[in-house]
Amino acid sequence: MSDDLLMEAAAESLSRPMRELVCHRGILVVCGAGGVGKTTTSTALALAGARQGRRVLALTVDPSKRLAQTLGVDRNLEAPVSIPEERLKLAGIEPPGELHAWMLDPKLVADRVVQKLAKDPEEVERLMQNRIYNGISRMVAGMQEYMAMEALHEFRDEGRYDLVILDTPPSRNALAFLEGPQRMSSFLDGRVFQLFLPQGDEDHRPGFFRRAAGAVVERVNRMVFGDETYEDMQEFFGSFAGILGTLNHNAGDMIRMLGDPDDVAFLLVTSPTDASVSDAHFFRERTREMGLPFAGFVLNRSQALAAGRDFPDYDLLPDDAEPAALSGMAKLLVLAEVERSEMERDRHLLATLAEEAGDSAFALATPTVPGGANDMPSLLSISDALWEAEPYRV
Ligand SMILES: Nc1ncnc2c1ncn2[C@@H]1O[C@H](COP(=O)(O)OP(=O)(O)OP(=O)(O)O)[C@@H](O)[C@H]1O
Ligand SMILES: [Mg+2]
Repeated sequence: MSDDLLMEAAAESLSRPMRELVCHRGILVVCGAGGVGKTTTSTALALAGARQGRRVLALTVDPSKRLAQTLGVDRNLEAPVSIPEERLKLAGIEPPGELHAWMLDPKLVADRVVQKLAKDPEEVERLMQNRIYNGISRMVAGMQEYMAMEALHEFRDEGRYDLVILDTPPSRNALAFLEGPQRMSSFLDGRVFQLFLPQGDEDHRPGFFRRAAGAVVERVNRMVFGDETYEDMQEFFGSFAGILGTLNHNAGDMIRMLGDPDDVAFLLVTSPTDASVSDAHFFRERTREMGLPFAGFVLNRSQALAAGRDFPDYDLLPDDAEPAALSGMAKLLVLAEVERSEMERDRHLLATLAEEAGDSAFALATPTVPGGANDMPSLLSISDALWEAEPYRV
């Protein structure tokens, strides 16, 4: 590339940061608290990438029924599927551009992890039948996150996609999905866990007092939980200890993979609330501590972009306006005042986010689409907004 073109590309990446991410990164990780618009933003970015001729996978472990309907794909499939041709056409995606989606159900994800990591088919079978496992597999911290990261790893290695967009599970702490493995290990170390762990084999026989204490614990457990449940628990924790250990080990590799700033970018989606500022601060700090490539904040459903538009005013009415027109205008002015104050609040929030982002990252806003972002035209309009968005400059 000539120097001029390089300078132009650099200027473009500063003025329209999403273009650079969508066109040149391999993995975008979209984080944020519950309901802020992570899935919407991820899908809009995936559409933008595919429209640019990239082969894109939208990977979500939070299968939204409406999104599945909008994209026209089933949920809980064994592998990613392409968006049907007529929707691709509607979205203006042409070869070589591709858009695949994989919407995973948490239980399915947990089962895949067990199938992959259990010692042998008998252990898989035992766990699948285990009532405790069936009750909690959706909730085991870190399983879904792990699986999503493992899928990422696999797809990167295969070179099947140019861009994978990871829509992370909802969490107040937006990076909890990366802390999953640590949470798993605290689960593993927990005393409750130890109580249920089957007694060691001959070589690791505990001392007399521990054995005696263990026997008491066992009797109490059987009394409290009943024989059948107790055995289910023992079996569950026994099999699970090994699986969690492997999860922790592999997750370390994946966190290293996500640390590559040339390939990966982390985005935080926020909504216009006061909590967004503390979320943003926390996220910025954590990505820094964890050595993850933070790219920027997206203030979703924002009125900040309404700046510069015309608001109603009495001046717009003729001098001899009818009383009905005057009272209509009075009502409009009340609504306009609400909008104006939301706009000011959002611009202020955006400025605070931009300050938090600093020189190496950005803060930008996306508008609220009337009626929600639940059909292809609305997703495309958010996709366009992200593509065009300029960063807020402090
Ligand atoms: N910019 C927007 N304009 C209008 N509606 C939006 C916008 N962004 C998101 N929504 C709507 O808000 C709702 C929540 O959005 P979304 O599912 O993307 O959030 P999420 O962060 O993925 O939620 P969860 O944490 O539950 O996974 C959806 O109904 C979506 O259509
Ligand atoms: Mg979601």
